[in-house]
Amino acid sequence: MMTEKQEGAPVLFTSTDSGGISVAANVLRAGGLVAFPTETVYGVGARTDQGAAVAKIFALKGRPTFNPLITHVCNRAEAENFAVFHATARMISDAFWPGPLTLILPLREGQTDIHPLVTAGLDSVAVRVPAHPVALNLIAAAGGPLAAPSANPSGCLSPTTPMHVADGFLGNTPLILAGGATQAGLESTILDLTVDPAVILRPGPVTPDDLASFLGYVPRVGVGHYKEGDRPKSPGLLLKHYAPTIPVRLCAVDVLPDEAVLAFGSVRFLGMRTGSGSKGLAREILAANRFLNLSETGDLFEAAANLFKMLHELDQTGATCIAVMDIPKTGLGLAIRDRLERAASRAD
Ligand code: TXA
Ligand code: MG
Repeated sequence: MMTEKQEGAPVLFTSTDSGGISVAANVLRAGGLVAFPTETVYGVGARTDQGAAVAKIFALKGRPTFNPLITHVCNRAEAENFAVFHATARMISDAFWPGPLTLILPLREGQTDIHPLVTAGLDSVAVRVPAHPVALNLIAAAGGPLAAPSANPSGCLSPTTPMHVADGFLGNTPLILAGGATQAGLESTILDLTVDPAVILRPGPVTPDDLASFLGYVPRVGVGHYKEGDRPKSPGLLLKHYAPTIPVRLCAVDVLPDEAVLAFGSVRFLGMRTGSGSKGLAREILAANRFLNLSETGDLFEAAANLFKMLHELDQTGATCIAVMDIPKTGLGLAIRDRLERAASRAD
């Protein structure tokens, strides 16, 4: 392993031999991040079942939103643990995996491999088997699938060498498995197989014509998909996003008796809105399990990891609305606020 001083902070590279892989796998098992090569670009990965680790990816990249991430596995059998494959999905994955093709598939009910932050609360999952021995060895050694977007700050160019990763993240650089330059240099093609006919959500190394001979038609390249760094004009124009079935009310400082509450940090000043003004948070809301706190200590990583799970839970309480306390406008708070604003707009 070698370290290098850059902008005053150590950058940690590790070799891709079995020693390096096992160091990196230990970092992942312990909830850390590792940058690793794939055949397309370098990714920065976390175990998909560790919400707080996945939250670190968004914080590191400075992503303004919780865009769902691609789950990387070693083979189709592993993916079948959490994704539902129909006959076409099996045929396409057997033809193109390992390789630069990501499939959007329904998430298997009751699965425990994929934390909701990976899918941004959606009921579908993006999955691929990378064609790179280092990536495959890392996934196997980490003991579970890895969520990994490209290893660059949001809005910057995707990295194709270890130095690109180090240059992009400067002082915050995670451990980098230094496996040389990547081949494709372009992110994987994304094919949505949850719709029929299938739609390409992101063009990439696998072309519509490559897919046509397996699908029996040339899939169209769909719209409504947005890239990292794009600023949406209106949340309603975006890639589908999770929204509860009941309304969401933001920046709540007091609560109506029939509402559910999604708190953040201290609830000392959260009151109950009644005819005679505000008083302390009603016992009935607490007793009815219509109260959840994203993070009692005000930890944004914990809050990010809890966000989608708690929205789902409060959606099922029979409340008329989810009242959400204000979230700080800093760091990961921006992405949490972004998703809450989309949930509140219900414009999809
Ligand atoms: O080549 C690649 O795919 C690289 C390497 C590291 O594997 N990864 C990559 O990941 O480009 P990322 O996170 O930058 O791109 C993920 C894309 C996003 O545009 C996201 O919107 C889409 O996949 N996506 C993920 N899950 C989805 C879902 N359930 N439905 C629709 N789109 C989804
Ligand atoms: Mg990217």
